[in-house]
Amino acid sequence: MSKTQPIGIFDSGVGGTSIWKEIHELLPHEHTIYLADSSNAPYGEKPREEIVRLSFKNTEKLLDMGAKIIVVACNTATTNAIQKLRSSFNIPFIGIEPAIKPAATKSQTKAIGILATRGTLSSELFAKTSDLYSKNSKVIEVIGNGLVPAIESGKKDSEEIDKLLQKLLEPMIAEGIDYLVLGCSHYPYLIPNLKRLLPDSVTIIDSGQAVAKQTRVVLNSHNLLSDTPQKPPEFFTNGNPEVLKNLINTATMSYNVTYLDF
Ligand code: SIN
Repeated sequence: MSKTQPIGIFDSGVGGTSIWKEIHELLPHEHTIYLADSSNAPYGEKPREEIVRLSFKNTEKLLDMGAKIIVVACNTATTNAIQKLRSSFNIPFIGIEPAIKPAATKSQTKAIGILATRGTLSSELFAKTSDLYSKNSKVIEVIGNGLVPAIESGKKDSEEIDKLLQKLLEPMIAEGIDYLVLGCSHYPYLIPNLKRLLPDSVTIIDSGQAVAKQTRVVLNSHNLLSDTPQKPPEFFTNGNPEVLKNLINTATMSYNVTYLDF
């Protein structure tokens, strides 16, 4: 394995680009390859075996492309498949889990909201973390039904999505939450909508920066951190490249988005 090999990142679709952005900002000398499995999104409503199968397929593709580390930029894939991935492939994996700990530790009202997919909320890994913190805080879990398909179809700024969010947030607002944890890598793209709909007293937390920092720590510990500029980021999607381009939305940086049937 060499320092110049790329960081491989995969998600059920375009949402994990929110994690990619944090990684690219923190580690600008790294070459990144991103796989968006949009034709299979959302993962959140699929049975566990199917989520594991798709996670293996994405990992194998990224390994074929030369990845030195794999970031599972999808909460549903992390909570359902990362243990199996780690025990099956001889490469470091970074996962993304809902940031319950900082929310539960800082909450004054002792009520925190978690918005995530059914696949994440029903996973064993999530239940373990949630049980740990729900002793001191009320944890209001809500399934973000419909949110991932709306983002995947480029509709994040629609009235339809605001109406949906309003309904999903109702039980959390009624319980007086002061922290909202985003437990899906697609949801950071809804932060402007959430800020409009939530009381000002609610802080929104996502895990993007923590994942980027952990990626740096793990690369460093394997002596795999790149210190010289690399090729521009590469994005591969089996969905609509335009939706991906709109989310990356950076005028200053060169990057490539390619349709790939994988
Ligand atoms: C999904 O594909 O349903 C959501 C991805 C995630 O959990 O981050």
